[in-house]
Amino acid sequence: MNTLHWIAKSAVAVVASSLLSTTSFAASETKELIDPRNQGYEQQHPDQYHSWQATSESEHIEDALAEDPNMVIMWAGYGFAKDYNKARGHFFALNDVRQTLRTGAPQDENSGPMPMACWSCKSPDVGRVIEERGEDGYFQGKWARLGNQIANPIGCADCHDTRSEGFKNGEPALALTKPYVERAFQAIDKPFEKQSRLDKQASVCGQCHVEYYFTGPNKSVKFPWDMGTTVNDMEAYYDALGFKDWTHKVSKAPMLKAQHPGYETWRDGIHGKNKVSCVDCHMPKVAKEDGTVYTDHKVGNPFDRFEDTCANCHTQSKDQLRDIVSTRKAQVLNMKLTAEKQIVAAHFEAGAAWDAGATEQEMKDILQDIRHAQWRWDYAIASHGVHMHAPEVALEVLGTAVDRAADARTKIVRLLAKKGITEPIEIPDISTKAAAQKALGMDMDKMNADKAQFLKTVVPKWEKEAQKRESTY
Ligand code: HEC
Ligand code: HEC
Ligand code: HEC
Ligand code: HEC
Repeated sequence: MNTLHWIAKSAVAVVASSLLSTTSFAASETKELIDPRNQGYEQQHPDQYHSWQATSESEHIEDALAEDPNMVIMWAGYGFAKDYNKARGHFFALNDVRQTLRTGAPQDENSGPMPMACWSCKSPDVGRVIEERGEDGYFQGKWARLGNQIANPIGCADCHDTRSEGFKNGEPALALTKPYVERAFQAIDKPFEKQSRLDKQASVCGQCHVEYYFTGPNKSVKFPWDMGTTVNDMEAYYDALGFKDWTHKVSKAPMLKAQHPGYETWRDGIHGKNKVSCVDCHMPKVAKEDGTVYTDHKVGNPFDRFEDTCANCHTQSKDQLRDIVSTRKAQVLNMKLTAEKQIVAAHFEAGAAWDAGATEQEMKDILQDIRHAQWRWDYAIASHGVHMHAPEVALEVLGTAVDRAADARTKIVRLLAKKGITEPIEIPDISTKAAAQKALGMDMDKMNADKAQFLKTVVPKWEKEAQKRESTY
């Protein structure tokens, strides 16, 4: 039974009896359930499991808002102004989505603030629940509704068809595990089943490292790719829909939050264009002492194992390539801060224009410029690693963000003058994260206390219920 414990209970009978008899069984008779538990695959694929587990070594939390408090203002009125940490290892995905202030402190299954969709890129339980209950059965309601069902961090069943014979025999059997991702790839004429092996290697990452939004009564996940995947294509798509993620608290602009369009920006970079996939750098094939080769599942920084990644294709030294990448990082950061300065000022100036009695009609074009400026800034910087993947895309897009912000500010200055205001608009102290949050009137003490209570009472209950359910698998 030991070697079979990863197989869902309903299928155990079928498999067990097929082991005993010589005749094989039609797989369609009983559908094996997806097993979301990563540890269940340890015996079958120890090298892949142990290297996957090593993503837990990337445990360092970096507070992006403390590093750059401008972002608190840019996201005023939206969850990201509460807290925003940089990405760390896949192993922590579930923990981190429970811990972030953005998901609030729901005390029952009907309280918010976030929808179910917020689990979507955190756990292989998502694919399992969608298969068991359908997409609506998964998406409907608030984030806390199925907190007890989503119990395992990003893992095997997110990227593999773990039930296929191929996978059991040690083949990759890569798979998209959510129907909304399949539809997105169809929209850009790249249906997964027709993709080459290299394309599939990037597409599995593209299940999560992409731009997406929540749509319809159930707030389901959709990728805004119907018109294409560039910053212009997606902006046009959102504008045509009249979609906004939130209304900015200071400027009242109808804002878009870019998620992390890493797949989209990689496609437009030099490596993507040359079919160098995410996996070539983040999950290299490595040789064991006995000469056998496996895929290293410790998704992390490719420079940490330069010999197995960059050095496979490049003759430059690690230091040389590192220097190039650091220079680009500094350039992107510099342009990012330049854009922020303009966008932050535009938000406060638009706020002042409202205070001076500006009308909706007078503000309309200005707010559209602010929306576009910030969308472009976000598209460029929220694609983590963009300074490596596509620095020229980041710099160009940030340039257009500065341009849109300048358009907005030129118009606001004129409007303010019309209202008799000719002095520069003063910006409050936003020099630290706490100061910026205070300037927006955010009650952080209460949010933190509520969160602590949620983590102490609700999460352990979810975990207990999940353990009980999983013990029946
Ligand atoms: C983020 C996506 C992702 C996750 C999570 C993931 N894999 Fe993989 N896996 C891959 C990719 C990509 C390959 C290489 C595909 C190729 O060679 O075409 C791979 C290859 C494999 C292979 C084929 C043999 C090899 O090493 O190349 C096995 C077996 C495997 N993975 C097992 C697992 C197990 C077990 C887990 C969970 C502990 C897991 N994978 C989690 C993406 C993933
Ligand atoms: C199921 C969704 C999902 C899939 C599939 C996925 N990722 Fe991630 N990835 C995430 C999330 C969420 C985080 C942030 C986790 C955190 O900070 O808690 C992350 C973090 C990362 C990081 C940062 C790691 C660190 O240590 O700082 C890298 C690099 C990364 N992913 C690359 C990839 C690559 C390459 C693939 C494909 C082989 C991939 N991811 C597939 C969701 C996913
Ligand atoms: C040519 C190699 C290469 C390719 C291809 C590549 N990456 Fe990266 N990626 C890197 C390097 C190197 C870094 C770290 C840059 C640094 O150290 O500043 C990185 C950083 C990242 C980060 C940020 C990690 C963090 O902690 O901030 C994520 C997420 C990521 N990559 C995901 C992806 C995904 C998804 C793909 C494919 C769509 C991909 N990468 C393709 C080399 C690559
Ligand atoms: C699978 C092969 C492959 C891997 C792995 C790879 N590269 Fe590349 N790299 C390429 C190709 C192909 C080009 C384009 C060459 C050209 O057009 O001249 C390129 C171009 C580059 C360039 C110059 C292009 C530019 O943007 O100016 C840099 C810098 C670079 N790679 C850095 C890296 C780093 C750093 C890593 C490891 C994190 C890496 N590459 C991993 C194949 C690879």
